[in-house]
Amino acid sequence: MTRINVPASKQYYVIVCNNVLNDAGLHLQQVLTPSCKIAIISDSHVWPLYGDKVQNSLELTGFQVVNYVFPAGETSKNATNYLEILNFLAQNQITRSDAIVALGGGVVGDIAGFSAATYLRGIAYVQIPTTLLAMVDSSIGGKTAIDLPVGKNLVGAFYQPDLVLCDPEVLTTLPHDIFTDGCAEVIKYGMLYDAALFDHLMNNGSAFDREKVIIRCIELKRDTVCADEFDTGLRQKLNLGHTIGHSIETLSNYMISHGQAVSTGMAIVTKAAAARNLCERAVLSDLLTVLDKFKLPTVTEYSDQQLFTCALSDKKRAGSSLNLIVPRAIGYCEIIPTPVDMLKSFIQDGL
Ligand code: GLY
Repeated sequence: MTRINVPASKQYYVIVCNNVLNDAGLHLQQVLTPSCKIAIISDSHVWPLYGDKVQNSLELTGFQVVNYVFPAGETSKNATNYLEILNFLAQNQITRSDAIVALGGGVVGDIAGFSAATYLRGIAYVQIPTTLLAMVDSSIGGKTAIDLPVGKNLVGAFYQPDLVLCDPEVLTTLPHDIFTDGCAEVIKYGMLYDAALFDHLMNNGSAFDREKVIIRCIELKRDTVCADEFDTGLRQKLNLGHTIGHSIETLSNYMISHGQAVSTGMAIVTKAAAARNLCERAVLSDLLTVLDKFKLPTVTEYSDQQLFTCALSDKKRAGSSLNLIVPRAIGYCEIIPTPVDMLKSFIQDGL
């Protein structure tokens, strides 16, 4: 078992351990009010696989459990579903000493976290991520949100969980495309911070050492979050590939997954960087090689105008400027403030 301390504004641990779901109750006992009521929020893919296991573990340790399960998919991360969750919590008399458990991938974690952040002005919550993407990224750092029709994650709050339980064993039931989705975020950490991690992914492809890589990514995410919890500086680096990626996701009405969109976004921004001599061409070719190894996409059918228009709604835009995360080398990226009127030509260079 590996226990990673996250000393953010609220201090908590990320526990990485095979089969930790069986002992969820024991771990939650350490951080929640004894015998409190827990609302497990999950989706239609994950609940049938792991719902009973987690519920039984919680009930065995004295918690009362209710569960809310919604249809899997990004389109469920909307205001209607959010209000339904709040009503569910109220109808089940969840009080301030009770808690939410988010059991699922990024969509579940985001909407359950936002519900925890806002219901009764904030109650305790625990993330139990069941996808690679959620394990290495969205379950850590307290970003919670729902989408608006115009764009992703436009309503949300920074609200740190009380505990994160990662069970790498659950990745064995993950559909291959969802696993590959998470690999895009793992490659992102290599591009941002860690050339050795990038090389490990290049050399091993999807046979990489899962536990080691998950732990390394969590540490990198922890360090970034603790340096800039509220996303005013360094944390924006985690958005490598995301400005264009979010545009692709939105334009496709979420038919293109987050990981695929981020993969294409990273390829486009790196191609533009190489064209502008901001990085060596070898950085681009290495990135394209590793993305190809994971069968992740690197091109898009959307036009520069479509991507540009959609990027204007990006929540990272501040007035007439938008911070682009630009690779300078494998393992090192810079935040480059880019006037909105120069963004389109940057995108053109990357297509
Ligand atoms: N997923 C990006 C962040 O947590 O900042």
